[in-house]
Amino acid sequence: MKTIVLTRQQIQEKVKELGQRISQDFNRENLIVVGVLNGAFIFTADLVRAIDLPLQVDFIRVASYGSGKSSSGTITLTKDIERPVQGEKILLVEDIVDTGLTIHRLKQHFLQHGAASVHICALIDKRERRELDEKIDYIGFEVAEGFLVGYGLDFAEQYRNLPDVYHLNNTTVPK
Ligand code: IMP
Repeated sequence: MKTIVLTRQQIQEKVKELGQRISQDFNRENLIVVGVLNGAFIFTADLVRAIDLPLQVDFIRVASYGSGKSSSGTITLTKDIERPVQGEKILLVEDIVDTGLTIHRLKQHFLQHGAASVHICALIDKRERRELDEKIDYIGFEVAEGFLVGYGLDFAEQYRNLPDVYHLNNTTVPK
């Protein structure tokens, strides 16, 4: 069973607001927007259309959760972006920040490769299991707890296509 947490209208309004804030903050500077696959693919696609700046879009992929609900604790980079980041301003787009390990690891990765700056935009800040307090520059929503699916978020690769975000109340893997 699942219960709705964020409607598509709420998400749409928030994406617009975040895009406006980012456009103002970067003031015509060039950005590389890096979406974290797979979860942030829809959020990234919507967010870039709300940002009025010169930008490039790329994606990075990490493995951490496997097919279950709990993190393995180890973040492995399985796909890097395909352009040099030396001297570039990076906006890392994440679907949800939970323990904070993923954004911490990715921010370090880009800084080590010479990025001029790394800002983080997360659709959902879920502080329930936070281990590393990495600064999140742009937060869409704060959700206290629970496992969320929809709008790109999955459970065992299911539910990513739902337009709204739901709290998943049981762990049955759908057929
Ligand atoms: P962190 O490294 O613990 O902050 O985890 C971040 C990643 O875990 C996100 O990119 C998601 O892929 C995944 N994740 C964390 N919480 C949820 C959730 O409630 N639903 C779906 N995926 C989640």
